[in-house]
Amino acid sequence: MTTVIRTTALNKIYEGAFRGQDVHALKDLDLDIRQGEIFGYLGPNGSGKTTTIKMLLGLLFPTSGKIEILGSESIDSATVKRNIGYLPEGAYYPDFLRGEEILAYYGKLYGLRGKELKKRVDETIELVGMQHARKRLLRGYSKGMRQRIGLAQALISDPKILILDEPTTGLDPIARKEIRDLLLQLREQGITLLISSHELLEVEMISDRVAILFEGVLQKIGSMAELLTQRELSMTVDHLSESSVSDLTDKGIQVEDRTGNRAVLRLPFHMSSYDGVEMCKAHSLNLLSISPRRETLEELFVRIVSTASKAREVVQ
Ligand SMILES: Nc1ncnc2c1ncn2[C@@H]1O[C@H](COP(=O)(O)OP(=O)(O)OP(=O)(O)O)[C@@H](O)[C@H]1O
Ligand SMILES: [Mg+2]
Repeated sequence: MTTVIRTTALNKIYEGAFRGQDVHALKDLDLDIRQGEIFGYLGPNGSGKTTTIKMLLGLLFPTSGKIEILGSESIDSATVKRNIGYLPEGAYYPDFLRGEEILAYYGKLYGLRGKELKKRVDETIELVGMQHARKRLLRGYSKGMRQRIGLAQALISDPKILILDEPTTGLDPIARKEIRDLLLQLREQGITLLISSHELLEVEMISDRVAILFEGVLQKIGSMAELLTQRELSMTVDHLSESSVSDLTDKGIQVEDRTGNRAVLRLPFHMSSYDGVEMCKAHSLNLLSISPRRETLEELFVRIVSTASKAREVVQ
């Protein structure tokens, strides 16, 4: 599969940024983002996501290392303009303008004029499903509608790569789903999407691959199938007594969703289904169902970040 963005040993040091001390915001980052995928770029606050994005957009210069975009190493503004669409976090557009006016304005910034401009405005409005509201003032738009116009703005130059910073923050569940569907639709059209987000459930639902960053160091990169492999068993049981509950909890088993004598038991990773069945026998539990559960992206994230921060404490 073709790589559209590649960073090699990329470093960014903000010199004298923190009380005169340097901040090493990105450390030897090796990243590859592939043609046509949705790539989730994750990490806690201050881990270096925006720094990376700014360097990809040519807004910041790397201290060292290499960036290639579509095989080209020169990240000048023409390369970026031609190939990358960008929706910054919490993008603000003047609300006395109509949706279509915003798009025409950005289109002009990209050098589009006349028929070509009109065609592109029509296409992007259609793409984000805003035909019905194109002539309305932004003032009257909901957050979801604003975000759609933001996406249309990022798409106006017909980019091959779209970089989105927190595209679903502050949206209600319906608007989130709409934006999610829209992003999947863009992927269908062959656009590569790089999404930086703290909304891990959203990211898990749509991403093909993710990277997790902590304090400027890449901790993990891979597909959901590769990263979320750990499975634990969950068992629904009946005839659960108070004494069994305390005994099971002592063994590291989580007791959830209790209603009367019925509950869901979540077994720790090291326990097999055989162990689970034996445990039911030992406690005279009636086993109703047993199923494996994949680790969620959120759980993986918390596990990786807490391991990395513990390791750092040991070093310090
Ligand atoms: N312009 C700057 N000057 C100095 N230090 C900066 C600058 N921008 C970012 N930093 C520092 O670089 C590190 C990475 O910041 P960055 O904004 O890239 O993180 P982030 O992952 O985008 O965080 P968030 O999730 O909060 O948006 C932080 O320690 C931050 O304080
Ligand atoms: Mg950021």
